Amino acid sequence: MRSLTVDSLNPAVRNVQYAVRGELAIKAEEYRVILKEKGQNSGLPFDRVISSNIGNPQQKGLDQPPITFNRQVAALMEWPQLMQLAPNAFPQDVIARAKELHDEIGSIGAYSHSQGVPLIRQHVAKFIQERDGHPSSPDNIFLTGGASAGVSLLISMLISEPHKSGVLIPIPQYPLYTATLVQFSGAAIPYHLDEAHEWSTSIDEIKAALKKAKEDGIDPKALVIINPGNPTGALLKEETQREVASLCAEHGLVLLADEVYQSNLHRAAEFPFTSFKKVVCDMGSPVPLVSFHSISKGVTGECGRRGGYFECHNIPDDVRAMMYKMVSVGLCPPLQGQIGVDCLVRPPKEGDESYALWKEETTRIHKVLAQRTKLMAERLNSLPGVSCVDSPGALYLYPKIMLPEKAIAAARTAGKEPDAFYALRLLDATGICVVPGSGFGQKEGEYHYRLTCLCPGVDEYVGKLEKFHREFCAKYQ
Ligand SMILES: Cc1ncc(COP(=O)(O)O)c(C=O)c1O
Repeated sequence: MRSLTVDSLNPAVRNVQYAVRGELAIKAEEYRVILKEKGQNSGLPFDRVISSNIGNPQQKGLDQPPITFNRQVAALMEWPQLMQLAPNAFPQDVIARAKELHDEIGSIGAYSHSQGVPLIRQHVAKFIQERDGHPSSPDNIFLTGGASAGVSLLISMLISEPHKSGVLIPIPQYPLYTATLVQFSGAAIPYHLDEAHEWSTSIDEIKAALKKAKEDGIDPKALVIINPGNPTGALLKEETQREVASLCAEHGLVLLADEVYQSNLHRAAEFPFTSFKKVVCDMGSPVPLVSFHSISKGVTGECGRRGGYFECHNIPDDVRAMMYKMVSVGLCPPLQGQIGVDCLVRPPKEGDESYALWKEETTRIHKVLAQRTKLMAERLNSLPGVSCVDSPGALYLYPKIMLPEKAIAAARTAGKEPDAFYALRLLDATGICVVPGSGFGQKEGEYHYRLTCLCPGVDEYVGKLEKFHREFCAKYQ
């Protein structure tokens, strides 16, 4: 009888790597369990694990609260009887919203339209239209179980020839892209972002990557832009966006615009966000564009609800019909995620009962994140052997670390990438869990790590990082 072994599995699945929840995160989890079971007798040199590895704002130990309005609507959708049982517990605009959604959806225990609830798609289209000043149609919107589900769908559809069809991805990148490309046997075509210029996107780099891919017999099908960037936090200038759109049109590439951090802007006056939809429409470009958004980031931070959407622009009807066919195989995105999207695109307006609280909560979240990012960047930059671009957006910093030769040699002996070695020692010494740069991609001989700016107690936290860094460098000097 043939036995089930790892070697008998789809090799594409065996080869997938996803550093954000990789070795470091697994070890951090083990430490968390030890601390929970043994408390002060854990024998560990720290009393808590700090999850800096993932942009998961509501995770235990982090302090981003859910937006009250969103949770109130969710609660009433979950159990509509509450509207009668506790009418005074909810603001009028929440009750009105829940009634409107309930009239459309009925029980959230039922499957919805596979593309997402039509009324919610109308609201998404209106949000996009108001954001960009260009029309958007609910028929072009697909609600998804987080942006990841949409990215995965697009990549699965675009890889027409295994190991030959390629997708241009930024380096460093969010590993969803490399992982999904491996899963669907696509070729990653890396183009490097420019760290010396605040992680900007260089058209020459993209052109060089395209040329090399073609020489290697790869057929480039799409180009991914993450704006604002993960892990870099960088925002593209509009001029660069126009050049990217033109390049995609010239080479017949689908432009995949990952815009999940569009509202995480720390210095919006200097680094504003402009959607690719707006740029492409302003230009009147025919480039096929798919733009992704999510409830996981921004001020909502509802990662666990799995809500998001993508918008298709310049996508032929028959291709869109194929998308619909494929999403219908999965029946529908989670209903609470869809309701989360409705709250994302239709927050309380001035004059609504919930507005003041919503404004207070969202302002605080923006402010705290911007303060923490700035402070952490300043402190990291003052450390010897560390340089860090002060991210204008998203949830992360991505410092570069100059590691001593002896540390690199010790890492090689231990069979680890040098930055993974550094990150493991950091976790062992402080309980701080970060993701090594090797998980995002970096230039040969360079080392980075990504940490989120979501952790409270920045002073204590960065103090631990600083102490560790100095001791590590001294040890291997
Ligand atoms: C750039 C980027 N795109 C997509 C995602 C996935 O988000 P979601 O939770 O909506 O699937 C993330 C999550 O961290 C991300 O950083």
